[in-house]
Amino acid sequence: MAGKIPLDFIERLLERIEIAEIVGARVQLKQAGALLKGLCPFHNEKTPSFVVTPSRQTYHCFGCHAHGNAIDFLIEHDRLEFREAIEELAQHAGLELPSEVDAAPAGPDPKPLYRILKQAATLFQQQLRAHPQARRAADYLRGRGLSGEIAARFGLGFAPPGWDFLLGQLGQAPDAQTLLERAGLVIERDGRRYDRFRDRIMFPIRDRRGRVIGFGGRLLEDGEPKYLNSPENLVFHKGRELYGLYEAQQANRQPPRLLVVEGYMDVIALAQFGVPYAVATLGTATTPEHLTRLLRSAPELVFCFDGDRAGREAAWKALQIALPQATGRTPIRFLFLPEGEDPDSLIRQEGAGSFEQRMEQATLLSDFLFERLAADRDLASDEGRAGLDAAARPLLDKVPAGTFRDLLEQRLARLAGVEHRARQYPGPRPTPSRAQARAQGSRQGLTQLNPMRRAIALLLDDPALAPHALAEPDDWREIDSPGVRLLTELLEVIGERPGISSAALREHWRERDQATIVERLSHSALLAHIPPEGRGEELAGAIRRLNRDGRLSLRQRLLSKASTEGLTAEERTALRRALRPPATAVSQQTKD
Ligand code: UTP
Ligand code: MN
Repeated sequence: MAGKIPLDFIERLLERIEIAEIVGARVQLKQAGALLKGLCPFHNEKTPSFVVTPSRQTYHCFGCHAHGNAIDFLIEHDRLEFREAIEELAQHAGLELPSEVDAAPAGPDPKPLYRILKQAATLFQQQLRAHPQARRAADYLRGRGLSGEIAARFGLGFAPPGWDFLLGQLGQAPDAQTLLERAGLVIERDGRRYDRFRDRIMFPIRDRRGRVIGFGGRLLEDGEPKYLNSPENLVFHKGRELYGLYEAQQANRQPPRLLVVEGYMDVIALAQFGVPYAVATLGTATTPEHLTRLLRSAPELVFCFDGDRAGREAAWKALQIALPQATGRTPIRFLFLPEGEDPDSLIRQEGAGSFEQRMEQATLLSDFLFERLAADRDLASDEGRAGLDAAARPLLDKVPAGTFRDLLEQRLARLAGVEHRARQYPGPRPTPSRAQARAQGSRQGLTQLNPMRRAIALLLDDPALAPHALAEPDDWREIDSPGVRLLTELLEVIGERPGISSAALREHWRERDQATIVERLSHSALLAHIPPEGRGEELAGAIRRLNRDGRLSLRQRLLSKASTEGLTAEERTALRRALRPPATAVSQQTKD
């Protein structure tokens, strides 16, 4: 894994770029006073409710509540990973990523591994042309309908017969042999080393950046095992990688969907015959990590399975993996193939057009879920409906709270004839997604925020308000609540970096345990009804309110200490101060 991107670099980057320019390149924006307005790219609308605020370097949609800084925008709009968004912005700003970012933070250095895997891929590719037996391999590929162009796009190669091709080519130095072994290219048994891949068509497996991290190899003739895969190594993790994703994204940055199939040859044949957006898991079931990556990379996801019983069981397993990430925002479908066909054989027969139609009509996750639950149950009987309800419950509980889940609940209620509102949901809720956090934030409204949250929201929105907080005493630090830690850190960061933008400030909490609360409170709509000129006083007021609680905590703590171990002189002064009623209360007392 590459190193973490330093925060100060991210801040520098956010200072250097102009969000209006980043968003403006993707959304048509019109000047509206100090703001820019346009049609929201995250939901369908006819009148603009999407606003970019250059003074804060943020965007916000009053319709769907999408909001964030330039990094968030690229993550959501271009469906980039955090790191990719940073890389894109750095390139735009003409900044070099810090060199330590590409280095491993700890542990072995992956660079030699990448190097040797790449060398091996190049050698295999050369053998497909140059080896005395290359003809057999080339004929095999031609026999499967693949063009030279597709073979080149996927970097296909040929591992020649024999036991020591790679050893001879790359393993001259003693270190090199160890490296080949660590890369999974060479096997050691009884003190002897030999090539793992022999007399096979080679499929390089590439990561998202196009680096070779492993291989699949297929026998040219019948035999066992038909396919051989690299074992995992330092840079190759089967639960994370998807064969063909890099190639799909090279073919089209924004594919209409991604299709998940089983085999290497399926991915390649689909690309050959006009569906260049298939990916395959690498001999493992789909993992949650695969799914996160897939859902981010296209607006729709189709899982392809055999039409037989085993295929349906595999689909059901995939559905269960998908539920915790199912929000309906990226529809997930299940395509069942006619028995005896795989995507390779089918697209060859019927062409891309018909195959695409199959994908468009493939069963939606919600339909598959209820079809399966309703199967073999007599929904005309109370027993059948109760059984349905009981079986559905643990599955629906996996779905993140939000509109999609509400709709599933309603459908279950209709099917089972049980009103879902009467139900109590025990057990822990899954962590809300960004979109849900957003929706919750807007429903909450500032008036319902306690003073701690109010102070944090105001500071996040406009760090320049900090002096209003700092001008007040800081008895609030005595309060025993998680907000204190966040507020303290906020003021510290702002103090260290005067002039920091709201956008840069939020970066400090990305992917940390308080990220959700920061996300929820970084919400302009919460503050919409406070005029800008009133915000300093609003913040000071929130701090004063907190100080009262703080003095209360302090008083209790010191009083209890006084009665047990006694107080130091300093503590006695503090207690006296804490016992003194606040100024406003004094004047009221004298009036009474
Ligand atoms: P299949 O046996 O369905 O083969 O394996 P296929 O994809 O149709 O291949 P062709 O058309 O005969 O060339 C599907 C996937 O299962 C894994 C591979 O990842 C393969 O692509 N597999 C299969 C293995 O890992 N080892 C095997 O021996 C067989
Ligand atoms: Mn096949």
